[in-house]
Amino acid sequence: MEQLEKAVAKARAQRRIAQPGERRSPGENGTVFARATPPVYRETPVMPFRPAAFEANKVVANRPDHPVADIYRSLRARVQQRLLRDNRRSLGITSPGEGEGKSWTAVNLALSLALGENQTVLLADLDLREPVVARYFGIEPKLGINDYLQGRATLPECMVNPGIDRLVLLPAVGSLGNSAELLSSPQMSSLARELKQRYADRIIIYDLPPLLTVGDTIGFLPNVDATLLVLRDGKTHAGELRRAVELLAGHELIGTVLNAVH
Ligand SMILES: Nc1ncnc2c1ncn2[C@@H]1O[C@H](COP(=O)(O)OP(=O)(O)OP(=O)(O)O)[C@@H](O)[C@H]1O
Ligand SMILES: [Mg+2]
Repeated sequence: MEQLEKAVAKARAQRRIAQPGERRSPGENGTVFARATPPVYRETPVMPFRPAAFEANKVVANRPDHPVADIYRSLRARVQQRLLRDNRRSLGITSPGEGEGKSWTAVNLALSLALGENQTVLLADLDLREPVVARYFGIEPKLGINDYLQGRATLPECMVNPGIDRLVLLPAVGSLGNSAELLSSPQMSSLARELKQRYADRIIIYDLPPLLTVGDTIGFLPNVDATLLVLRDGKTHAGELRRAVELLAGHELIGTVLNAVH
């Protein structure tokens, strides 16, 4: 715990994450790196992301010259190293409370990984009460992970490629009241297992609800290989961080991201 607090203080001192509303140079919006050998998505429909949605949500990882994209490339390298060295492939992204930047981090990290060398990524929205992943990309899929869990669709039918090579989204559509039961259900465990088996070369990133304010997240964590904890500068209190770390005991916490440093 002491070590974690020191790491947070160090990250804050280094101001590693940009603040909301940071200025960008013109012409960068929506820029995607070119890929030499794009994978072919035979089953997955393509719904191109809207650059205006990235702009509105301040998504930056696809903009090569943006300083925060650089930070995300270094986060990507650490995550890849820590996950892949032990053949771990699924990562849950959570935070102690609401609005601390879990989804923003999940989207930027997934993008950064997909735009790197030879890494395929699946980004799944498990905030079933308030899903936002599709909104971040500015797309409106008809089917989501909720439809799969409720037996209305197959898994491939619920996936979408946002027009970015090596990235597939498993969005959620609508809002589910019984999200806590679903997240800790046997169906969810078998979904997590199936995702790992079916897409053996992919890193699977789960955008999760908060740890302390709802009961959903902790019930799902046994299904992931590792967890990344997002803290928001000036918002997350030390006590909340402590309680979150206590809750994560026994789960593989591979690191923290100090988000939106002022
Ligand atoms: N580093 C950042 N720079 C700019 N904007 C950010 C940053 N981090 C988060 N935001 C913005 O802050 C808002 C909340 O972020 P986000 O949705 O990622 O939080 P969350 O932790 O997922 O929230 P929830 O608990 O509701 O799931 C969003 O509008 C997002 O675009
Ligand atoms: Mg979120």
